Amino acid sequence: LFFENSTRTRTNFELAAKQLAANVINIDIQTSSTNKGESLADTVQTLEAMGPRLLVVRHYQSGASQYIAKLVGKRCGVLNAGDGSFEHPTQAMLDMYTIREHFGSFNQLKVAVIGDIAHSRVARSQINALQILGVKDIRLVSPPALVQGLTKAFNLPVFTDCDAAIEGCNILSLLRIQNERIAAGLAPQPDVFFREYGMTKARLARAAPDCIVIHPGPINRGVEIADDIADSKQSMILKQVRNGVAVRMAIMSMIVGGQDK
Ligand code: CP
Repeated sequence: LFFENSTRTRTNFELAAKQLAANVINIDIQTSSTNKGESLADTVQTLEAMGPRLLVVRHYQSGASQYIAKLVGKRCGVLNAGDGSFEHPTQAMLDMYTIREHFGSFNQLKVAVIGDIAHSRVARSQINALQILGVKDIRLVSPPALVQGLTKAFNLPVFTDCDAAIEGCNILSLLRIQNERIAAGLAPQPDVFFREYGMTKARLARAAPDCIVIHPGPINRGVEIADDIADSKQSMILKQVRNGVAVRMAIMSMIVGGQDK
């Protein structure tokens, strides 16, 4: 049930569900009765009346998945596939899987989260996950306007100087500018952002020699990442996408199968 655009998450979930032998129905919001004025609550209750085991929900409002989960109660599982600027938990889980696959463990890692942190649901879920898994050195790297509010929430150091921040890091987690959630006129100019925060070969050389680059996608080449980094061996971007299928299979299987969480 995707009220917002998606390439990776929606396809990942559909492939994962089909590999688990589930029947999958993609609701096309553009042609649904949402366009006739049906509310989110009525839409969800209508769909729930048809007996799905699981709803996978992406919505532009923060908290939408929790709201839907309360509506349907125990009758149906609800998975958050991204809600506003709040959370994107399955993205964080596939990110953690990719990091563990590469490094084996978490507690010695130095991670820089770079870009539009304030509007990023990925950043929130990812930082939560990194902290749960024992990463002690997490640096938030962003222009001041794109990190507001999160300093207190996570109690992490904020850097505006990207070159200084990434010294010795093992993981650079890049984020795109979430233009769809930024008030008109307040988004940074793409060329200015690239000059100050864009990941280039020269900048990456300041990080640890074993450094990898992760990005949830979609990427904006020439804004948060240069071509020669996006397509390099240090980039885990397509590996993250591939790992997403297995991770989402595991999550759906655990929820629907009722196995240990
Ligand atoms: N990472 C992510 O959520 O990508 P999509 O918007 O393409 O699903």
